[in-house]
Amino acid sequence: MSILKIAKMGHPVLLKTAIPVEDPGSPDILRLIDNMADTMIDACGAGLAAPQVHVSLRIMIFHVQNDRAEHNEESMSLRVLINPEIKILDAKLDVDMEACLSIPGLVGLVPRARKIYYRGHDSSGRLIEEEAEGFHARVVQHEYDHLDGILYPMRMTDLSTLAFRDELGRSVINPEQSNSNNE
Ligand code: NI
Repeated sequence: MSILKIAKMGHPVLLKTAIPVEDPGSPDILRLIDNMADTMIDACGAGLAAPQVHVSLRIMIFHVQNDRAEHNEESMSLRVLINPEIKILDAKLDVDMEACLSIPGLVGLVPRARKIYYRGHDSSGRLIEEEAEGFHARVVQHEYDHLDGILYPMRMTDLSTLAFRDELGRSVINPEQSNSNNE
C-alpha cells in the first residue's frame, strides 16, 4: 500500500495518449491499481487515471458516493476499468462543475454527454459493462479523457467559469454546485 505522487497540469504525462495494458493480471498491474485506490482515497477524489500517477497505461478507477448519486443512481463502490471503451448513447450535453486532482484548487463547468455505455475489465479479468447517466457518466468521461491526454479545461466552452474553489462564494457561479468532487 502506497500513496503515489499525483502529476499536476503541465506535466507532459498528462498530455500523452496512454497505451493499452497487455498483462492485466500481472503483479505489477495489481499493485499499481491498489496504490491508485489508496492515492485516490487519500486525496478525497472521485476517480483517478493511471497517467495521473505518472503511468501512461489505460487504467482508470472511480467510485460514485451516496451524496453524488443522481436520478436514482445507486452509489457505487470502487470500480476498476482496464483498457476501457466508451460509446455515447445520448449526445445531448449536460453542463456541471468538475474538478481534477491534477488541477488542485480549480473547478469549472464542463459539458459532457448525458448518457454513455462503457466496458472494460476489472483487476480479476471480469468484463464490466454498463450504461451510465448523471454523475456516473460524467466521472467515467472525465477519467477516460485522461487516457487520451485530455484535461477538463480542454473540454470547457466557457472559460469564464474556471475558478478557484475557495473564491466561488463570491462568484456568479451557483454556489450550490461548488461541492464538486475531485476526479
Ligand atoms: Ni482528473
